[in-house]
Amino acid sequence: MIVDDVAKLSLLEDRKPDHALPRPFYTDAEIFDLDLRRVWYRDWLFAIPSCEIPQTGNFVTMQVGEYAIVIVRGADGVIRAFHNSCRHRGSRVCTVLKGSAPKLVCPYHQWTYELDGRLLYARDMGPDFKAADHGLKPVACVDAGGVVYVCLADQPPAIDGFVNSARRYLAPHRLNEAKIAYESTIVEKGNWKLVIENNRECYHCAGAHPELCRTYPDRPGFTSMDESGAIEPAVTAHWEKCEAAGLPSKFVIAPDHQWRFARIPLLGPGESYTMDGKAAVPTKRLSTSPFADAGSLLNFHYPNTWNHFLADHSIVFRVLPISPTETEVTTKWLVHKDAVEGVDYKLENLTRVWIATNDEDRQVVEENQRGINSPAFVPGPYSTIQEDGVIQFVDWYCRTIGNRVGGGGRLAAE
Ligand code: FES
Ligand SMILES: [Fe+2]
Repeated sequence: MIVDDVAKLSLLEDRKPDHALPRPFYTDAEIFDLDLRRVWYRDWLFAIPSCEIPQTGNFVTMQVGEYAIVIVRGADGVIRAFHNSCRHRGSRVCTVLKGSAPKLVCPYHQWTYELDGRLLYARDMGPDFKAADHGLKPVACVDAGGVVYVCLADQPPAIDGFVNSARRYLAPHRLNEAKIAYESTIVEKGNWKLVIENNRECYHCAGAHPELCRTYPDRPGFTSMDESGAIEPAVTAHWEKCEAAGLPSKFVIAPDHQWRFARIPLLGPGESYTMDGKAAVPTKRLSTSPFADAGSLLNFHYPNTWNHFLADHSIVFRVLPISPTETEVTTKWLVHKDAVEGVDYKLENLTRVWIATNDEDRQVVEENQRGINSPAFVPGPYSTIQEDGVIQFVDWYCRTIGNRVGGGGRLAAE
């Protein structure tokens, strides 16, 4: 397996710096399998906002490659994750996308688990059976200030730096006081890396996103900042204004570039991602921001999420790979739990811009995939002015799998 992976990664040795990946990285079943094993089964993944399971016994299931996972809130209030595979004969214990139960009861032969994973009851298993040896297998899980991450690795990579930053940056957004106003799941017929690449640039925004561009600044100095890139004065002035009001805002990025937080102002008087730019939830803001125009706190965490935390609401996005050319994208709109639909906000106004934007992104990703499927595809150059976020993601990907396979730094563009 390791020899095979080294052979597969040798395809990257000829990659030109700042160029797209070779075609098999977007199309090939074996490379998709390598991505699952070396990235998706190894890294921390965004799962759900913690407000999705506010009560004891609330659970959500998710599928990561071959792994079925259940995330559940225990009687002690702690959120835990488990492999959703019964310790009897392996049936999925929780069979719906989300639900609530006082105990987790396997539907096959009713083995019954406590919410903390311990096996409580298994009928007629004889005197030698030890229930204590048959608890649900845990999956690493952390609530990082209202966003729950899971990791399938036996020895998960360190996540303290991200968790500390997330708790600090997200605190004023009060995700623990949120509820899900709406959620959508779409399947994009494109490789997961194309979905992330597309998210990491706004070179396409003017052409693709008429709704989003009413409020979202597509200039690289606003959105694709890095340690070396020029940051526009309007952004640094916004940081000063917001930080003075208790909203952590200044750009912070992981040493390996896996995640970032930065708050940006929206265009002009823009307050939120709506068609008129005004707050979608003006009277019951989710955040503690004293002003409506706090812009958007942007956050990504590779390989599977980008997020927008606004003054009035928040939007979280989760990406999961389905096949070499299919990717699931789930979007959740969070509002204050006391905000009443039809009174404090109109659902259509809250969701219109990003439902449209997601569909527009789906179309560009699918056309990107169709073109790459052609044997004539040659990886082209990224714009170093407009697409440095894409370069950063692709370099992170190459470095990460290179290090894990053992190819080392020579696989990453320096
Ligand atoms: S497989 Fe779960 S109780 Fe039998
Ligand atoms: Fe887009």
